[in-house]
Amino acid sequence: MRSIPVTVAALCYVVVVFGVLSFSSNAELDPSFYKNTCPNVSSIVREVVRNVSKKDPRMLASLIRLHFHDCFVLGCDASILLNNTDTPTKIESEQQAAPNDNSIRGLDVVNQIKTAVEKACPGVVSCADILTLAAEISSVLGGGPDWKVPLGRRDGVTASRTLANQNLPSPFSSLDKLKSAFAAQGLNTTDLVALSGAHTFGRARCTFVTSRLYNFSNSGKPDPTLDTTYLQQLRGQCPNGGSGNNLVNFELTSPDTIDNDYYSNLKVKKGLLQSDQELFSTSGADTISIVNTFANNQDAFFANFKASMIKMGNIGVKTGKDGEVRKQCNFINKKSAELDLASVVSKESSQEAMVSSF
Ligand code: HEM
Ligand SMILES: *[C@@H]1O[C@H](CO)[C@@H](O)[C@H](O)[C@H]1NC(C)=O
Ligand SMILES: *[C@@H]1O[C@H](CO)[C@@H](O)[C@H](O)[C@H]1NC(C)=O
Ligand SMILES: *[C@@H]1O[C@H](CO)[C@@H](O)[C@H](O)[C@H]1NC(C)=O
Ligand SMILES: *[C@@H]1O[C@H](CO)[C@@H](O)[C@H](O)[C@H]1NC(C)=O
Ligand SMILES: *[C@@H]1O[C@H](CO)[C@@H](O)[C@H](O)[C@H]1NC(C)=O
Repeated sequence: MRSIPVTVAALCYVVVVFGVLSFSSNAELDPSFYKNTCPNVSSIVREVVRNVSKKDPRMLASLIRLHFHDCFVLGCDASILLNNTDTPTKIESEQQAAPNDNSIRGLDVVNQIKTAVEKACPGVVSCADILTLAAEISSVLGGGPDWKVPLGRRDGVTASRTLANQNLPSPFSSLDKLKSAFAAQGLNTTDLVALSGAHTFGRARCTFVTSRLYNFSNSGKPDPTLDTTYLQQLRGQCPNGGSGNNLVNFELTSPDTIDNDYYSNLKVKKGLLQSDQELFSTSGADTISIVNTFANNQDAFFANFKASMIKMGNIGVKTGKDGEVRKQCNFINKKSAELDLASVVSKESSQEAMVSSF
């Protein structure tokens, strides 16, 4: 008699445990996550990104960077897209953090993608997945590798300017600091070298380069790890005492395509940022042999870039019932509701005004 309830209890326990386990395996990202709910999502993202990049080829680089700057702060949860708000919760946007301010691009493109995706499948695809898909599509359109993008991320309901300032590495950091910034996100030295290869395209402002050209580490001299011909060229583009807002291509020969020239450039002291050149010029560093491998073998670079992009895309993801799927990428849904309500109220009051004047 007494064994029956025990068995029932044991069964319940088994069901609960398996329920939890199967929930957690459901909570993994999966490239076919939108197979039934938004089967065409990749094509929609691709069409918008392709359209925009025809007029603005740099946008491919900007979109890859946006995904990186999202993932290093509270995980890949589209926190970077949230704007400043006071209500219903206070959000201090990451967009004004030092590494992002006057620097990140593509926020409007993400909104364009979201609008196109919402039209096809309303309320289904997260802004975090849109950022991840846009990064992969940008790699392909930039001549880089393709990969199956794990999907099913949910959007966060908060942002952190503080963590954006803390977690995103500076172009003036030592190699050890770069390594620890990546290690803090679960990314190792190979990931650091492979992902830095994203600096194979796009632009940087002179402000991040000038000290290397005129007064490196307050030595009164240029950075000794900078090729002298390249130095003269960069001085032409970034005058001493200039505003710092001039743009320089990361790469001389193929400024808008993804290839392994970034690594060959490092071998001849033609890395643009201090943080780039350190990967090769730090004496005795374990990154040197990785740079050599990628410089000699583009397939090896592509294979590692792919793997590291997927790894980066998995950082701190919210899945299942965590977070939400934002309706508008710049606001949490509670804020969007508040804004919708406000627009309904203002429409009603203008109708009332019309009625009373009638
Ligand atoms: C290793 C540490 C890194 C540092 C210190 C760093 C720093 C920078 C800086 C200073 C710029 C120029 C920003 C400006 O001029 O406003 C830049 C641009 C860029 N970064 Fe990085 N970055 C790093 C890693 C990465 C990673 C991991 C990726 C992507 C996987 C990435 C992708 C890009 C791209 C594509 C651009 C050009 C963006 C454009 O033209 O709009 N960076 N980075
Ligand atoms: C998928 O999206 C692309 C790009 O927007 C469009 O050309 C195509 O017709 C769509 N296919 C389906 C089945 O909806
Ligand atoms: C892309 O550009 C084509 C041609 O200009 C246009 O017909 C199409 O509507 C655009 N698609 C999107 C999603 O913007
Ligand atoms: C969000 O903030 C950005 C500036 O960071 C601004 O350009 C954009 O218009 C804002 N978006 C909305 C929907 O208010
Ligand atoms: C970095 O991590 C990848 C797997 O994510 C692994 O294959 C690789 O060997 C690791 N590299 C180092 C230097 O630890
Ligand atoms: C380099 O920077 C240091 C510290 O700011 C300054 O004292 C020195 O005069 C500068 N040298 C040159 C040549 O600009």
